[in-house]
Amino acid sequence: MRIVLGVGGGIAAYKVASLLRLFTEAGHNVTVIPTEASTRFVGTATWEALSGNPVSNSVFDDVHQVNHVRLGHEADLIVIAPATADLLAKAATGQAGDLLTNTLLMARGPVLFAPAMHTEMWQHAATRANVETLRSRGAAVLEPASGRLTGADSGPGRLPEPEAIFDAAMALVQGQSDFQLPLAGHTVTISAGGTREPLDPVRFLGNRSSGKQGVALAVAARNAGATVRLLAAHMDVPPPGGVEVVPVETALQLREAALAAAADSDVVIMSAAVADFRPAAVSDTKIKKRDDRDDPVITLVRNPDILHELVELRNSAAPGRRQQLIVGFAAETGDSDGDVLAHARAKLQRKGCDLLVVNHVGTDKVFGQDTNSVVILARSGSEPQEASGTKTEVSAAIISRISAELNSVSPRA
Ligand code: CTP
Repeated sequence: MRIVLGVGGGIAAYKVASLLRLFTEAGHNVTVIPTEASTRFVGTATWEALSGNPVSNSVFDDVHQVNHVRLGHEADLIVIAPATADLLAKAATGQAGDLLTNTLLMARGPVLFAPAMHTEMWQHAATRANVETLRSRGAAVLEPASGRLTGADSGPGRLPEPEAIFDAAMALVQGQSDFQLPLAGHTVTISAGGTREPLDPVRFLGNRSSGKQGVALAVAARNAGATVRLLAAHMDVPPPGGVEVVPVETALQLREAALAAAADSDVVIMSAAVADFRPAAVSDTKIKKRDDRDDPVITLVRNPDILHELVELRNSAAPGRRQQLIVGFAAETGDSDGDVLAHARAKLQRKGCDLLVVNHVGTDKVFGQDTNSVVILARSGSEPQEASGTKTEVSAAIISRISAELNSVSPRA
């Protein structure tokens, strides 16, 4: 496919290098047209090297080829990223001052704008009107992500992650009307990894969680356009880019972080393996073996059930407040009291969350593995949904189920 990638003059232009890579690695022929202003952020040499095609932003280069006519007509897809307030305004009013805006006027195929700007600019009546105009003419304008912006500010206006723009672009080309990122505008908090409960300055009680599933979920949510906050307990894998990471160690720290994060989250996913118990006392000094004393006995006390608390907090929220979707995970082995699903159904009732993702665990299953097989149970009582494959594939299925639940109208009590 021939793609024209228009780069606007915003700091997020640097992220578009990754988007270009995704397009070329998928086998597409990409011509980059940077605006004059954007070359202050990323130079044309970068675009030439990464695209393998010559780069110009002037209608007066290679005039004999009438580039804007050729590029506009030949493009199967035009993607503008970052679409600045200025570029949206120019496109909406049909201006034609440079090669990119000329090419846009010549376009015959689908056009996707991926906006990035400060929140006030995005929410300004002028920008809203320009976006409406472009959408009414059939252009696709993505909702920007929320989160940290260039300065100290944060809010809606971040460029969606390159993978998210890529997915939206492919959906648009395939004629899917719902190219919009399913979690755009939503904040998703995900806990991942295993908590560690200290015994003394050098020892802790831990568990075998690797954090891979939680990280894969964070990536899937990010790629679906969400603003993602990852509450990271101990993990064997690094956190992904493009998400806010809140490091925690113990269950009590995770509880504090989760309750704080839940306040502005549309979705909370508790995929961390939280220790149910912690040592009643933590020694300030290393516990030594002593021949003149009995060996130590560790007394454990219960940790709070964070998932349950989150549900109680959500249920007590003022009526009219935006509803929150809460997702729990259950690791079950099944025993003489019941099989895996029986235990999971009981847990779903006990915890009161909206969805419960059930893993069947054994010593060789799930922990640290790259593949997984889960059943998603819903409190609404709908049919259990199975998902299996790599943790990436399972995460995509879970995130798509969450998107469907968020977009459904059924009330959550
Ligand atoms: N969880 C939590 N707080 C805890 C323990 C668990 O929020 N103190 C969350 C986990 O993140 C997971 C879900 O609860 O989403 C299920 O955890 P699990 O340990 O399997 O369930 P338990 O409540 O411990 O039930 P049981 O001991 O009967 O297996």
